[in-house]
Amino acid sequence: MTARDVRFLIPGHDTSDGAGVKLKRSLGQSARARLDPFLMLDEFSSDDATDYIAGFPSHPHRGFETVTYMLDGHMLHEDHLGNRGDLTSGGVQWMTAGRGIIHSEMPQQNEGRMRGFQLWLNLPAKEKMKPAGYRDIQAAEIPEATFPGGVLVKVIAGEIASEGGSVTGPIHGPSQKISTDPQYWDVSLRSGAEVTLPIPATHNAFIYVFEGDVMIGGHDGRKVPTHNAAILGDGDSLNVSAGSRDARFLLLAGKPIGEPIVQYGPFVMNSMEEIEQALQDYRQGKLTA
Ligand code: FE2
Repeated sequence: MTARDVRFLIPGHDTSDGAGVKLKRSLGQSARARLDPFLMLDEFSSDDATDYIAGFPSHPHRGFETVTYMLDGHMLHEDHLGNRGDLTSGGVQWMTAGRGIIHSEMPQQNEGRMRGFQLWLNLPAKEKMKPAGYRDIQAAEIPEATFPGGVLVKVIAGEIASEGGSVTGPIHGPSQKISTDPQYWDVSLRSGAEVTLPIPATHNAFIYVFEGDVMIGGHDGRKVPTHNAAILGDGDSLNVSAGSRDARFLLLAGKPIGEPIVQYGPFVMNSMEEIEQALQDYRQGKLTA
């Protein structure tokens, strides 16, 4: 196995989106801070309702997929297709904007903790204009793989080989024709635990640490602090260990698309002409037609 090292860190920056939801943006804070096929990763985490209560009122997307993973809290998704889905603690919403979707994501609580992530995953040119799709995944549908020493991996997307055999998540690229074959794992380590996770060598990969700190490449390796993304080098495995506190991170891996990216707000296409077309379609009410 060839262990992946850390190429560079992207600290999460405080920003806001939607109607004023406070969040930390790591990937996507600039055009250079991306990792093909991943465009953006936002973490929202607050016990103060004023940080999230405004939510994300009706807005469009075209050309990519948005994945919302709720750790704590309750949001309601509604879209132009008539989908209505409750996103509750531990659940995931996997939305393929394709040629166009208009949706809202609004908090269904006036107090308490709201914590989770939104990931933007690009689509290749040949799939950018496919029909919109939407899937709600409940917490109970997300399987767990265990590794020795107190390591637990929730497999939201992809597949992982563990001691007890292979564990496949509810989103599985090869069988669901998701050409980037995304791996989306939520990894928990007890303090001091160390594990080597297999990651497909064909994929670009990064981690985002959201509890505690981790070390990549042994206990004396490269430290990745809380609220940092670490872009990983090539290889087919990741050696990771927790520091003196329990740690938790997301691991995202996907096959690179290798095409030009032109983003304008919620539209991600391959050229400026396609962006102008998206804007025109949206103004004329034809984005989703
Ligand atoms: Fe959205």
